[in-house]
Amino acid sequence: MLDFMMKAAVGDMVFGEDPMVNELEAMAADMFGMEGALYCPSGTMTNQIAIKAHTRPGDEVICSRMSHIYQFEGGGIAFNSGASVALIDTDRGTFTTDDIKAHINNPDDPHKAYTRLVEVENTVNRGAGACWDFEELTKIGELCSNRNLGFHLDGARLFNAMTVDGRKPAEYGALFDSISVCLSKGLGAPVGSLLIGNRDIIRQGIRLRKVLGGAMRQAGYIAAAGLYALRNNIRRLDEDHRHAAAIAEALGKNSLTEKISYGGTNIIIFTLIPGVIAMEFLQKIKDHGILALKTGDRSIRMVTHLDVSDQDADRACEVLANL
Ligand SMILES: Cc1ncc(COP(=O)(O)O)c(C=O)c1O
Repeated sequence: MLDFMMKAAVGDMVFGEDPMVNELEAMAADMFGMEGALYCPSGTMTNQIAIKAHTRPGDEVICSRMSHIYQFEGGGIAFNSGASVALIDTDRGTFTTDDIKAHINNPDDPHKAYTRLVEVENTVNRGAGACWDFEELTKIGELCSNRNLGFHLDGARLFNAMTVDGRKPAEYGALFDSISVCLSKGLGAPVGSLLIGNRDIIRQGIRLRKVLGGAMRQAGYIAAAGLYALRNNIRRLDEDHRHAAAIAEALGKNSLTEKISYGGTNIIIFTLIPGVIAMEFLQKIKDHGILALKTGDRSIRMVTHLDVSDQDADRACEVLANL
């Protein structure tokens, strides 16, 4: 990837003249069968651009309480779009058309915000990498069309979901008005995300990317990493899933863990028994070269990715099973 980045031909992305960015955007739009794509520095920016493009101040977005857009984007829905949220409570961050119907406001009721957008996340980060059922997404897509609601997918780890559900990007493209995918995370690029969508979203998105400071100049060097990731790193994601499944199993053998959630992809979230705090556990495993993230006083998230080899995963399993 680094070699490919260093050899990139570059131009000025702001003027639409960076060949790598143009190729990456065209490749993504083509892959998903959508009208356009925008290369941005981060998944937060692609989500925030989409939300801003779909809504007007005072509108409401329906999403899961555990969604990244609500929990981890710095209050960006309010800050950037002046929109409010209607939150759905679920175990794994997936929900149904009935959950959505219960949160759609009557547009004729002046007391209520206009419901404008439904957002889903696939895979669900805080749902331990859980995947959506594609049939359920299809039903939600129909509901959104019938009720004139935008439908946005935070697909930061969509390629992990497609590795499990066997669906093609174009099937997702046909369902959503806008999709955000990350080239970093499991795909291994150092930086970068894509917002893929219909013509109107992309037209607005070009302006919003500029306003938010995401219109870069010779971005081809980093866009090259994204191209490399799409060409080479999707097909190996099942290795990460295999490693994560083994780690989840090893954690189950450990006397310090109380509950282990594993959604079948590359994320494991676990809770420690009362009396054991996350910081202590993290220090213990760090001493063995294993890094993880605290998600609560007694809960921890572990993620596998392309820098974790078979040997690394085996060693991690041995340490985690025997702590
Ligand atoms: C589901 C999800 N969406 C969006 C993002 C944001 O991506 P970035 O860190 O590139 O802003 C993340 C990051 O962890 C994520 O997990």
